[in-house]
Amino acid sequence: MGQILQIDNEQSLSFGYMEPKGSLSLRETISTYLRTKGIEASSESISTVSGGLLALQLISIGLLNRGSTFLHETPSYLNLVHVFQSAGMNLMGLPIDKEGIKFDAIERMKRQHYASLFYTIPTFYNSTGKLMSEKRRLELIEVCQKETTIPIIEDDVYGDLWFENPPPKPLKAKDTQGNVLYIGSVSNTLSPGLRISWIVGPEPVIERLADIKMQTDYGSSSLSQYAVDKWLCSGMYDDFLKEIREELKFRMDFTILILKKYFSEIATCSTPKGSFYIWINLLSCVSNRKVFNVVLREGILLNPGSVYDNNDLQHLRISYSYASMEQLEKGLISLAKLIKSLL
Ligand SMILES: Cc1ncc(COP(=O)(O)O)c(C=O)c1O
Repeated sequence: MGQILQIDNEQSLSFGYMEPKGSLSLRETISTYLRTKGIEASSESISTVSGGLLALQLISIGLLNRGSTFLHETPSYLNLVHVFQSAGMNLMGLPIDKEGIKFDAIERMKRQHYASLFYTIPTFYNSTGKLMSEKRRLELIEVCQKETTIPIIEDDVYGDLWFENPPPKPLKAKDTQGNVLYIGSVSNTLSPGLRISWIVGPEPVIERLADIKMQTDYGSSSLSQYAVDKWLCSGMYDDFLKEIREELKFRMDFTILILKKYFSEIATCSTPKGSFYIWINLLSCVSNRKVFNVVLREGILLNPGSVYDNNDLQHLRISYSYASMEQLEKGLISLAKLIKSLL
């Protein structure tokens, strides 16, 4: 039997199992929060989940068959996590340009390979940190809704981490036909340990995913849901976001300065507009896998581009969000030295 804890005067916290879609109070709060991003979603079309990764897993179990083909941007976070591959699905990467996914390939791929879904991270791609332009978002929605009718999974777990200007509105805000399944999260803002994310989509789809969720982990921690609800509806989350945006921007500027000083002969990179990552393009023919192995021995952990795209031997992804400034500086100086020694 679930216990009840009196947390404050007006609300009590139940420690029993929650309804399949998760805490109603949190879902109502998420619905209000999503409105600030231009997304209209009732609490019934939202399900909480224990992390963005579980959201992807539920989609792979609940909506797709073995052998389905899944389209995604190249490079992509999906190649790192293997959720869909281990469920027996085929992944096909589509190229991106400076505005985002080259959407004209979607229609062809759908026809030739009977592709079932298209997965995208339009705001601050994990790995490259890039941002899909407003124009490309509109074109993509148009192609996926009207011409190709291929459902989109929009992974927006970095959307709140912009530095100076808010990014264009999510694809879900432009979705008039229930064609976009949207994933949001506090894992990258508040804490990954809370394990609170959410999926938003048409009610029947959300009900199915919530059902499978109950069969998978009986739902997210009620304590975490309570905490996230409080953060979001009290205004504390917004205040906290202001702080971490400033901190991340400061760290990013610092990292770019070091890269300019020590990497100018060996690599190029662009300046991200949000999130955690800088995507470094190695100018020489030294392979990123070799760099990864050599620097790991020196205690430096970075992700080679090959984990996001098997054919990529040229890029490294650096994260400036976690290490201390001293560690960042020391690590980057050693990285530059080691790369030069490999040339
Ligand atoms: C694009 C993307 N989606 C989903 C996740 C999974 O996040 P979570 O910790 O909420 O499971 C991550 C984690 O880094 C991510 O980068």
